[in-house]
Amino acid sequence: MVGGPAKLERMALNIDDLRLRARRRLPRAVFDFIDGAAEDEVTLRRNRAAFGRHALVPRVGIDVSSVDLATSVLGERLPAPLVLAPTGLCGMATSRGEIATARAATDAGIRWAASCLSSVTLEEIASEAPGEHWFQLYVWKDRGVTQKLIERAAASGYRVLVVTLDVPVLGQRERDVRSGATIPPRVTLRNAIDTLRCPRWLWTIWRGPRVTFANVTPADGSVSLKPFALSPFVNSLFDPAVTWKDLEWIRRLWKGPLAVKGVMSAQDARLSVEHGADAVIVSNHGGRQLDDAPGSLEVLPEIAEAIGSRVEVLFDGGIRRGADMAKALALGARACMIGRPYLYGLAAAGQAGVADAIRILLGELRRAMALMGCKRVADLGRACLRPASASDSS
Ligand SMILES: Cc1cc2nc3c(=O)[nH]c(=O)nc-3n(C[C@H](O)[C@H](O)[C@H](O)COP(=O)(O)O)c2cc1C
Repeated sequence: MVGGPAKLERMALNIDDLRLRARRRLPRAVFDFIDGAAEDEVTLRRNRAAFGRHALVPRVGIDVSSVDLATSVLGERLPAPLVLAPTGLCGMATSRGEIATARAATDAGIRWAASCLSSVTLEEIASEAPGEHWFQLYVWKDRGVTQKLIERAAASGYRVLVVTLDVPVLGQRERDVRSGATIPPRVTLRNAIDTLRCPRWLWTIWRGPRVTFANVTPADGSVSLKPFALSPFVNSLFDPAVTWKDLEWIRRLWKGPLAVKGVMSAQDARLSVEHGADAVIVSNHGGRQLDDAPGSLEVLPEIAEAIGSRVEVLFDGGIRRGADMAKALALGARACMIGRPYLYGLAAAGQAGVADAIRILLGELRRAMALMGCKRVADLGRACLRPASASDSS
């Protein structure tokens, strides 16, 4: 046996292993910030349950000695149909988490969308972890701040702009409210014992720069120097009055490919295209915004049908296995995005943990495709799926 049981014990076999490691490594409030979702977390569970409604059809007698995961996304050839989704404050998982994430994505040849709410400035990411990264934007009430972010992203060489439209107000994430999570995280009487049981995390956070929204400064009135909670910050600075007219305005400012993220209906997908999107990202923000929304995979087919012939459809929400990716690709996604899976890896082992998450999912996808007789991503289609028995979808 190669490596022996100790080696096996160290190696994460799947995303759930990474999640358990992240849970052991992080203070409860920080783990919940990553793992949690809005209100009763119904949408979070629906994201997972939706995959259980489809079974993969095995095929035999096909030469699958070489399975090619390569595909093209927004005009660029990529080695696999995987993009790391934007997640704010990667620095909560480990100090300067954005740099580690960007490097892992670049090493794997895939793309990562840096959130405008990163804990490291977009310029530092571009210079310390160069790569063809994407940049994700929220629309701030102050259009000057919004425009400046777009201009800075263009000047730093970001290739694709992702405009997230599903946060006119912040979803109520009850785990965060209960834990009293703040930015930066602080040690209080209430969480002291729990935080002190995580010395490795505490050490990296304590040694590193202050965890805050690095792209905006106290000078523009955007961030406070005192620890603050996410919800009042977002609700006071993001614009709840954003409309499709703002997307047109952004379209005029951004010369490169533009993707609209947070689309969950065919109607909004069509409107995104009419107002200038080159791609639509089917996403319910990982269940963190409107609770009781459908699982992302449930709405993917109707959106792909409505706009798939005109623009690319990307997908996120609940992917934890390569088989999940295969299902989303078969139902019309050009590429899949993941949020929590790489954050679990980041918290578990920094850059190596993000690399693990990518390696695990792509290994699983490749194996599933071989067993389904699919040599290329384009071979994945509706014929590869059949309804699963009802007992799986709970
Ligand atoms: C901790 C965390 C922070 C996030 N921050 C952002 C963000 O800043 N911008 C954004 O568009 N989406 C954000 N998202 C949503 C992700 O981009 C993505 O839609 C979601 O995580 C996909 O679901 P999954 O975690 O099940 O893969 C965040 C998600 C998490 C878990």
